[in-house]
Amino acid sequence: MKILGISFGRRNERCDILCKEALFAAHKAGADVKFINTMRMEITHCHACDYCSRCRDRGDVDIHCAFKDGYQELEAAFDECDGVIIAAPVYAVGIVGQFKNFLDRYMPSHDRANILEENKKRSAEGKPLLNPNYTKDRYCGYISVGGAQSHHWVSMGLPMLHLFSFSQCMKAVGHIDAYDQGRTGSPLLDDKLMQTSADLGRAVAEAIGKPYDEVNTWVGPKGVCPVCHNDLLMIENDGKDVLCPVCGIYGKASVGADGKMNVTFSEEEQKRARNTLPGIYEHHYEIKNMIKVCVPKLMANKEMLDEKMKKYRNDFDAEIAKMDAEAKAEQ
Ligand SMILES: Cc1cc2nc3c(=O)[nH]c(=O)nc-3n(C[C@H](O)[C@H](O)[C@H](O)COP(=O)(O)O)c2cc1C
Repeated sequence: MKILGISFGRRNERCDILCKEALFAAHKAGADVKFINTMRMEITHCHACDYCSRCRDRGDVDIHCAFKDGYQELEAAFDECDGVIIAAPVYAVGIVGQFKNFLDRYMPSHDRANILEENKKRSAEGKPLLNPNYTKDRYCGYISVGGAQSHHWVSMGLPMLHLFSFSQCMKAVGHIDAYDQGRTGSPLLDDKLMQTSADLGRAVAEAIGKPYDEVNTWVGPKGVCPVCHNDLLMIENDGKDVLCPVCGIYGKASVGADGKMNVTFSEEEQKRARNTLPGIYEHHYEIKNMIKVCVPKLMANKEMLDEKMKKYRNDFDAEIAKMDAEAKAEQ
């Protein structure tokens, strides 16, 4: 069993320490472990060029990104692993952009519903299936690291890390909100934090190889959402429901006599969370139906849109100069 640890923080600083502590414990529990620090890697953003979809549509076994940079090292290591532990710093209340760049370039192009549907098609045509690593169940653990003392300065940290799970239907077994590092100084001065990191690493190692429904371990605070265990909520449906924006599931909120909020999510909703197969298929069909609506609309309006688009395709400054000249002439 292989566990990959990725640190998006500075070398030998907090993310590295916590991620490595988790990997040391995972190794003790029998895992082969690999560690990558991304700080000096160039990982550009997704350019939406669709090259990855073309790899899939033309029958390749592997799906790659057109841009060659640090991404390929992470891609190869992730493909190989059976479990992953990610430690990343909070920058401007959310997770550092480099993490999101990796997520955007790997995850949507490896969406499990798309992979399974493509494989069904290939099976029927007797063509080679996509790389089996893309349909491997994986366990994960997340560590968000922030300097601020006030928790609200890291509010999007852990929720954003969990976005890594859903396209590949991964199951998280715990997370750590390591904020207040400015006062802690070093994670090495916080025995509880170090122990929780070790517990997280061991939990990932012990989960690997087991079916998802047999693993109910959770390391860290239980949170309000029973699926991702985050505390982030949106108010939806005219104030009638709450939504976990990470999992895309609806729940009910009320305030008890003690003034405390009570939030519940039905079993049915939990089963359609974004990181489950039904959840990821919901989005797959949503996209398919979107295409059915959008393509005929664009075809029917092609000439009119071509004409209207001139203004937007033209040189922007020239268009503004034209507008100013027209306004002056009207005066
Ligand atoms: C550009 C930038 C923005 C930051 N924004 C926040 C923030 O909003 N909230 C917070 O708690 N810490 C913030 N920090 C502090 C880092 O999260 C903190 O230094 C963390 O320890 C970095 O991880 P590392 O030590 O593994 O490199 C920021 C740091 C940088 C460089």
